[in-house]
Amino acid sequence: MTKSWFCLSHNVARIALLAGLTAAGTAWAQFTQSPLPYAYTALEPQIDAMTMELHYTRHHKSAVDGLNAQIKNYPELANMTIEQVLCQVSKYNTAVRNNGGNHYNHEIFWKVMAPAGQGGKPSEVLAAAIDKAFGSMEEMRKLFSAAAAGRFGSGWAWLVVTPDKKLAITSTPNQDNPLMDLPEIAVKGTPILGLDVWEHAYYLSYQNRRGDYIKHWWDVVNWNEVNRRYEEAMRQ
Ligand SMILES: [Fe+2]
Repeated sequence: MTKSWFCLSHNVARIALLAGLTAAGTAWAQFTQSPLPYAYTALEPQIDAMTMELHYTRHHKSAVDGLNAQIKNYPELANMTIEQVLCQVSKYNTAVRNNGGNHYNHEIFWKVMAPAGQGGKPSEVLAAAIDKAFGSMEEMRKLFSAAAAGRFGSGWAWLVVTPDKKLAITSTPNQDNPLMDLPEIAVKGTPILGLDVWEHAYYLSYQNRRGDYIKHWWDVVNWNEVNRRYEEAMRQ
């Protein structure tokens, strides 16, 4: 049921998009990286410029290249959104799972960050939902930070809207995420906030001090984008 719900909601969005693009005569492109919405230096000192550049131009790019390389094995991927791929990723091989997850996760990650002081604050509706789910904003931050700090090895921490429209905090290993239709994904939902806790995301500035990275990362959260993603997820 969960799988159907996710794929149905993403398919509806895709059909609308497909109709528009077909009318315009535009051919489908391969998966692409969205432009980074700020300069590599923009998140300093919380995240240094070299980390941002390497992370975006190498780590994320290699995932996009790796995903596009799988189109020869699965031609239908060329006509699918990344969300559609992930909500039925159990049909595909490990390369699609890893590169597709990697691509999607980073697309979210860049957008839910903004230079310190420019990210706004949680909207009234999101703040109320956070209070209801976790007791307070402070408690949500504690739980999210603990999920990020406690992820053994590499992975991600997430704030998600579950299929029954509730907020939940979870973490996933490696490049997995809560959209994936895999039995080992304990909490499924639509991510509205995600934190990369792979060492490549913080090692140059923080070395092994993941906790410091998490603490400073809150200063560059783009709440305006989290608010937008929350409202979109609630409409799905
Ligand atoms: Fe990363």
